[in-house]
Amino acid sequence: MGVKHFLTLLDLPSSDILAIIERSIALKKNPGLVKSQARKTLGMIFEKSSTRTRVAFETAMAQMDGASIFLTTGDSQLGRGEPIEDTARVLSRMVDCVAIRTFSHNNLERFAANSRVPVINALSDDYHPCQLLADVQTFMEVRGSISGKRVGWIGDGNNMCQSYINAARVFDFELLIATPAGFEPSADLVADNRSRVKLLRNPREAAKDVDLVVTDVWASMGSESEQAQRARAFSDYQVTAEIMALANSDALFMHCLPAHRGEEVSAEVLDAADSIVWEEAENRMHTQKALLEFLLD
Ligand code: CP
Ligand code: NVA
Repeated sequence: MGVKHFLTLLDLPSSDILAIIERSIALKKNPGLVKSQARKTLGMIFEKSSTRTRVAFETAMAQMDGASIFLTTGDSQLGRGEPIEDTARVLSRMVDCVAIRTFSHNNLERFAANSRVPVINALSDDYHPCQLLADVQTFMEVRGSISGKRVGWIGDGNNMCQSYINAARVFDFELLIATPAGFEPSADLVADNRSRVKLLRNPREAAKDVDLVVTDVWASMGSESEQAQRARAFSDYQVTAEIMALANSDALFMHCLPAHRGEEVSAEVLDAADSIVWEEAENRMHTQKALLEFLLD
């Protein structure tokens, strides 16, 4: 149908992704530049909790003079069994764009296949591309282009890790990933990106001489029942000051948040000067604005 969707970072050409981030940097410096989206509505369907993503999207639409409608499965007919395909057909006749946070990535693909308007992945079990727009912007603002840099991912091979693999492809950086056995990212995704991505076991090796260290929670939304088992499996994977000391002297730390101090990251690292997590969180709103401008135009 020729509608542009943003389900993963690979859905748009790299040049468009970079343009969205550059636009976001410009909008952050000069919010008045933003194009009005008056009379446009963003539909939001969230099956999982959210602070940053929801507030970023809703604030972005408000600042662009548009509207947003927030739905959970519990308060829509989705929760009573209306098929995703039918929901997509109906919603996309009313709203101008839809952001969805769901479990199975396939839900997003089924919605998008039946939608007349752009669909944005606001996080699935497999990918969190909106977060990567903010992460790359944040790195670029502090250190310039991320292309050619070395990034260390320590922890779970989850939706964020897999989005970093896509980002390594889009922005051409080297990605070292250290996970415990059994928690690796998709083998196919790693194989498709083997020129840029290296899988490791030892978190120290993933931090060695990198420009950026990134981690995320050990138990993502949907895996809460595995929390205790995961805490044991990941006990050697906390990003500590000792781990950060192995990275380049000007290495930065990022985390999509929410963070668990004393689990995947020590309080010392999260609250240190080279931790840019609060800027990273703010940039969710600027990048969401730039993405919405791009998709709504
Ligand atoms: N980083 C992120 O997506 O945060 P929320 O779950 O609060 O939206
Ligand atoms: N990996 C985490 C990211 C939260 C923003 C989760 O899916 O819960």
